[in-house]
Amino acid sequence: MRLLIVVLILVVQTVEVEGDVFMEWAKLQKDFWDWRMRMSPELSTSKHVYRYNDLLTPLNLTQFTLVKIGVDGFLGQLRTINRSALSGKEQMNFDVLEDLLQMFSESHKWLEYAPVNRLNFLEGLTIGKKHSISGIPFHNRGDFENFLSRLEQYPNQIMEIIDNFRVAVRTGHTLHNVSIAKVPIQIDELITSTPEQFGYFAPFNDTLESITTIRQAVKDDFRERAKRYIADILISLGDLRDYIQNEYLPHTRSEWGVGSWDNGSFYRACLKFHLSVEMTPQEVHDEGLREVERITTAMEEILRAIGFDGSIKEFFAAAKKNKNYTKDTADEVLQLYRTMFEEIIWPKLPTMFKDVPDIKVRILPMTFDGPIGVYSPGSKDGTRPGIFYANVYRPQDILTFSMMPVLLHETVPGHHLQAIYSQTDNLRNYRKGISDRTYSNIPVTFPIYTAYTEGWGLYAEYLGEEMNLYTDKYEMLGRYALENFRACRLVIDTGLHMFNWTKERAVTYLMDHTSYGRADAEIEIDRYITLPGQACAYKIGEIRIKQIRKDAEQQLGKDFDVRDFHSVVLNIGPVPLNLLERAVGEWVQSVTDARQKAYVISPTCTSGTNRSRNLPLIAVICLILTTNR
Ligand SMILES: *[C@@H]1O[C@H](CO)[C@@H](O)[C@H](O)[C@H]1NC(C)=O
Ligand SMILES: *[C@@H]1O[C@H](CO)[C@@H](O)[C@H](O)[C@H]1NC(C)=O
Ligand SMILES: *[C@@H]1O[C@H](CO)[C@@H](O)[C@H](O)[C@H]1NC(C)=O
Ligand SMILES: *[C@@H]1O[C@H](CO)[C@@H](O)[C@H](O)[C@H]1NC(C)=O
Ligand SMILES: *[C@@H]1O[C@H](CO)[C@@H](O)[C@H](O)[C@H]1NC(C)=O
Ligand SMILES: *[C@@H]1O[C@H](CO)[C@@H](O)[C@H](O)[C@H]1NC(C)=O
Ligand SMILES: *[C@@H]1O[C@H](CO)[C@@H](O)[C@H](O)[C@H]1NC(C)=O
Ligand SMILES: *[C@@H]1O[C@H](CO)[C@@H](O)[C@H](O)[C@H]1NC(C)=O
Repeated sequence: MRLLIVVLILVVQTVEVEGDVFMEWAKLQKDFWDWRMRMSPELSTSKHVYRYNDLLTPLNLTQFTLVKIGVDGFLGQLRTINRSALSGKEQMNFDVLEDLLQMFSESHKWLEYAPVNRLNFLEGLTIGKKHSISGIPFHNRGDFENFLSRLEQYPNQIMEIIDNFRVAVRTGHTLHNVSIAKVPIQIDELITSTPEQFGYFAPFNDTLESITTIRQAVKDDFRERAKRYIADILISLGDLRDYIQNEYLPHTRSEWGVGSWDNGSFYRACLKFHLSVEMTPQEVHDEGLREVERITTAMEEILRAIGFDGSIKEFFAAAKKNKNYTKDTADEVLQLYRTMFEEIIWPKLPTMFKDVPDIKVRILPMTFDGPIGVYSPGSKDGTRPGIFYANVYRPQDILTFSMMPVLLHETVPGHHLQAIYSQTDNLRNYRKGISDRTYSNIPVTFPIYTAYTEGWGLYAEYLGEEMNLYTDKYEMLGRYALENFRACRLVIDTGLHMFNWTKERAVTYLMDHTSYGRADAEIEIDRYITLPGQACAYKIGEIRIKQIRKDAEQQLGKDFDVRDFHSVVLNIGPVPLNLLERAVGEWVQSVTDARQKAYVISPTCTSGTNRSRNLPLIAVICLILTTNR
């Protein structure tokens, strides 16, 4: 009885202490998210938080400093919270939030390096494109008033983009010509001859007309104002185009890379942002060289085995001309993707994963001529499904034996499976949607943990081997070609930005080791020149995930269950790789502990019971019994 009372008091006290900390912690997270929404009105709208629909995010550099001051404030508050009083799961949230804040704060010193170049050929201006307002509500008078208020502010935002470019020119931190030469053309494509034709006028046509609660006179007034504001936007867009054409382009940097900026420290900061772990450019480069050599050797062995005499480049060029390995139409390619997903991959998932929710992917043609494939996650309520968009613009160039790794990466067990997990979990808002994904700001922005997400995508391609999904030597060649492409990125990205590689050297290197032709290779290399470090996240992430798994396997031996391992990795959600490693380490520890307890108690306690089901409970009871005796 006395023992029981003591236990009860202990329980009550712990709850009280934890209650305080927990409330502080909950409040901090909420305050942070509210603040984040307030500082980023467009992001806020996209998250269905409509309080700031009348505002635009200031893009001037002072604003970045204000955000940094805010971030430092939250970091200070975070450090007053007793982390060890939180539960394991909350400690993980705590550590991720700390990383998000700290990375942002530290990156502020690169203010005059990255966010000063707001536009590039990959992230052209979206102002005026219809799709960029697709998340904005237009249901009532207030909605339109809000949007009109935004329209009125766009010329200022465009002016801020020009002002930032001026800082880039002044400090010598400009983009290379290949990154921006197309932007004036992209802007010209946006500019319309009348305001009514501009994308942002769209809601003032039929949508406004159909709203019966707004009087006609008000509608007329809205349209007049919209035309006036858009006319100003069109003038500003012209100014922006002229500025880039006449003043910025003549000052674009002559080096392909950014390695000379601050003696490489800027590039190292970009790498850190994308990899989420510390690695020097040399280490990344060397890792890439080793991987390229390993994969290239494997490919060459297969080429010999199938009796092909030429090089890798020649093999892929020949295969594209062989009707045995291609389809004629886009529909046939899509159909093959669907069959492979439904009949070959999905049924094999249970060999590697536990309890996968039955949420399938849709496979549709890509609506623009982008990469081989992209994945778009579904909505949390399930109303919009996850979609794999396949690029079928040139169906006859798609090698059927290269389709498997693409599917594995974009659908399951790759990005679609990740998305299924994040649809069913309860990740905090700041762990899902903190970033507006403006790549040009990197590293002066919140991390997005690409090494985790894309590392998993590439790991999924590897899992295809363990799941016996690559059925013949050709499919293995398809797999290796895609893997080598990511290994090449390590070599090329660091080559361009740190080791003085020219674009031509990079293009040749890529063509020599993958199935890429010249035109595609050039676009790819332009991307590396534009987004320093980004391309390295995939392979480094995959290598680390494999290493973490290998360590767990070694520690657990026959107790290692790969399906449990995968649950741990997927459930944790996007994190820096060192936190992933820690989470897996904790899981390994818990499995080890359970095994030891089972061993100690089994002679007396588990006889006659179903061990696998009752083990945890029995373990607790047995422990209490033993301690009390
Ligand atoms: C920059 O943005 C802030 C809002 O964060 C605004 O108060 C300030 O006037 C802007 N500065 C300039 C130079 O436009
Ligand atoms: C923090 O929490 C732990 C665990 O609840 C407790 O042991 C420790 O005393 C607390 N530290 C402070 C400074 O309150
Ligand atoms: C920049 O690129 C464009 C388009 O590729 C090209 O026409 C132009 O000559 C280049 N300018 C410089 C200075 O290299
Ligand atoms: C709005 O309607 C006018 C008149 O029909 C049309 O010319 C214009 O293109 C429409 N604007 C948009 C953005 O759809
Ligand atoms: C530049 O970086 C290299 C390698 O990181 C280092 O050896 C060298 O001392 C640095 N130079 C300066 C001026 O900091
Ligand atoms: C296509 O495959 C068939 C059957 O495997 C083979 O007989 C034929 O030679 C192949 N054609 C080409 C052009 O490789
Ligand atoms: C980089 O290459 C250029 C020519 O492509 C050369 O002029 C320059 O000296 C090289 N710089 C270094 C650090 O090797
Ligand atoms: C023990 O439980 C598991 C599932 O919980 C079940 O599959 C197994 O058949 C049970 N074994 C016995 C001996 O009852």
